[in-house]
Amino acid sequence: MNERDSESVAYDLVTRGYELVTHEDHADIILLNTCSVREKAEQKAIGKASQLLSPKNDKKITLGIMGCMAQNRGSELSKNIKGIDLIVGTQKFHRVSEYLDQIISKKSSNNLAPIVSIDEEVGSQNTINQHLNFIEPKVTSFVSIMQGCNMNCSFCIVPKTRGRERYREIEEICEEVTRLSEEGVREVTLLGQIVNAYGRGKFKSVNGKTPFVQLLEKIHDIRGIERIRFTSPHPSSFGDDLIEAFGSLPKLGNYAHLPMQSGSNKVLKSMNRPYTREKFLSIAHSLRSINPNMRLSTDIIVGYPGEEDIDFEMTRSAFSEAAFEMAFIFKYSERSGTPAASMADKVPQVIKEQRNQILLDLLSKQSIESNEKLINSKMNVLVESKAKKGGGELIGKTLCFRKVIFPADESMVGKSLSVVIKEVDGSVLKGTII
Ligand code: 5AD
Repeated sequence: MNERDSESVAYDLVTRGYELVTHEDHADIILLNTCSVREKAEQKAIGKASQLLSPKNDKKITLGIMGCMAQNRGSELSKNIKGIDLIVGTQKFHRVSEYLDQIISKKSSNNLAPIVSIDEEVGSQNTINQHLNFIEPKVTSFVSIMQGCNMNCSFCIVPKTRGRERYREIEEICEEVTRLSEEGVREVTLLGQIVNAYGRGKFKSVNGKTPFVQLLEKIHDIRGIERIRFTSPHPSSFGDDLIEAFGSLPKLGNYAHLPMQSGSNKVLKSMNRPYTREKFLSIAHSLRSINPNMRLSTDIIVGYPGEEDIDFEMTRSAFSEAAFEMAFIFKYSERSGTPAASMADKVPQVIKEQRNQILLDLLSKQSIESNEKLINSKMNVLVESKAKKGGGELIGKTLCFRKVIFPADESMVGKSLSVVIKEVDGSVLKGTII
């Protein structure tokens, strides 16, 4: 999501005459787009900003902080980051270029207070709609379909930093995807903080299909788009229509992200996640029944306040039962202002570390086991780019969103190819084209 927001800001700046450079050492202006989901992310951003503005640096740069941390902390950030020029919240990305123009025109006078812009702005969800493909053509693109989240998960700071749910119109999203397809994009990833709740309460369900599924069907009809992905969904909005879509819309592929957070009903309740372990596992089961090649990933938080051994054991067993092939496992991080921050029974750091490691080991086992089954199979791969290590290899993804590396000529980028898998580890497959 932050990558997408950053791209949109970069587009505005480039079209206004600013020039993108490839390394921070060459920049006169640096904008840090930030995350507040865990405390570490905020500390990292503050550390980076302070380092960039350190008096030891000969070059004086203009520095801006954008996004969730800017929204969360506002002008208070200027106390932590001396010399910061710009603090821009999550509904003001499209105003960055005008603020920078103002800052630059006044830059000769030193010690100006930073511009701080963190108010809500009606319609701001419609402004994240431009891409930089004309600079660097891409095979896969993010498309922001909504902003904000109306859920109130007790651990989560996002409702505070991103505001209430606001949806773009289906037609505008489809226009953007059509444009992308004409520019050579073959895969789109629809983005929203609670992406599958798209349009709820605003657009009507039709024939039992929620606005999100209607949107998926419309995008499915767009020529040139071969794959549609979305992130991040909520299990509570994973209704039958969406599960069935995985059977009827081949471009959705064989992959779904299903954030479980915990396998204990007690913890889920305390997290204010309105589903049970049983309901969650039945969604995972239905997805695997509708498509036997389905690959599932999840998000888990370990060490949430009040999580006892028995609760963690429930998470571990649900993780194994759902047979997740990929997962983002997080140690609970206290976020001030969230309901969980004032809860009793905090879990000690060592226990969080232990639980984290147990799940990482289980994940590694499950992902290797499932990847090993693919050896000698033929998979459809959408080629994205040269592999990072170079050496004549390209990287692409399967319909189940696994990374595949294989030797091939760069002219194959953007194509869908058949690749036979020869080698696997927990995260990457290696193969040859046939
Ligand atoms: N501590 C740890 N992890 C968190 N997440 C959200 N808030 C917190 C927090 N306070 C995780 C959730 C979410 C993912 C994006 O980040 O698992 O799904």
